Amino acid sequence: MSLRGEGEARANSGARRARIIAIANQKGGVGKTTTAVNLATALADRGRRVLLIDLDPQGNASTGLGFAPADRGKTSYDLLRGDAELDTAMTATIVLRLFLVTASADLAGIELEIAQEDRRESLLARSLRGQTTGFDEVLIDCPPSLNLLTINALTAADSVLVPLQCEYYALEGMAQLMRTIERVQQGLNPRLVLEGVLLTMYDQRNNLSELVADDVRRHLGDKVFKAVIPRNVRVSEAPSHGMPVLMYDPRCAGSDAYTDLAIEMLRRNSGVPRERRGAAA
Ligand SMILES: Nc1ncnc2c1ncn2[C@@H]1O[C@H](COP(=O)(O)OP(=O)(O)O)[C@@H](O)[C@H]1O
Ligand SMILES: [Mg+2]
Repeated sequence: MSLRGEGEARANSGARRARIIAIANQKGGVGKTTTAVNLATALADRGRRVLLIDLDPQGNASTGLGFAPADRGKTSYDLLRGDAELDTAMTATIVLRLFLVTASADLAGIELEIAQEDRRESLLARSLRGQTTGFDEVLIDCPPSLNLLTINALTAADSVLVPLQCEYYALEGMAQLMRTIERVQQGLNPRLVLEGVLLTMYDQRNNLSELVADDVRRHLGDKVFKAVIPRNVRVSEAPSHGMPVLMYDPRCAGSDAYTDLAIEMLRRNSGVPRERRGAAA
């Protein structure tokens, strides 16, 4: 992979807090993990320093980056419990500039373990506070649920990216997700904004995909990314090889689409003044 976007890379120097982006949708199988792994890789490929936090007990993002359960040392469970600092919980990956905090199955039990704890919604936010200055972006891969793990991600995040699968009922569940985001904004995390909605698994040969995409754009307008992720067999093959599709097949349509998404996201954000620049929050 080439190092493009040198201007962006230069802008990375100097301590500042990373932008934290939660990738969330309570529906399973909509492309959250695929987006987390491949957007993270596309950003790293553009010269960004990126941290991916796997916050799903299923650990698909960890597996997709080549970390089998036996290869995972400290995990996001340890990070949340305060048993490991970010520095020891994270590990380098096969992708240059991309670091990962893996997930393990014991994350599934955390909801019960911390049910009685004060500030149980902000465990991740507290673990990350002041620790992310070495990164430009931190992506959090959420589980398919609006549970305490997802609430922790939304509480720690600056923005939330919502993948929507181009299928019938794509918008089903969006209202509930938006209500959850609003609740977090009103209480736990007033700075949370919607990063954007990403159309995934778009099938050009299928009229339905086009209808759904039009419908979603009608409802959500410019909140929807221009970049659209096509249904692409290379994208679904890559995880079984333990690598992002951008490495597995850099020239396929899926890789192009995730690169387009990364560029669009960086462009959108470069126009916005970074109020927290320089502050190690
Ligand atoms: N653009 C795509 N083209 C083809 N298959 C995809 C694409 N995106 C995701 N998939 C496949 O769909 C399934 C669900 O995707 P995943 O990212 O795991 O969803 P989630 O994390 O929301 O549950 C996986 O098997 C994945 O490989
Ligand atoms: Mg997933």
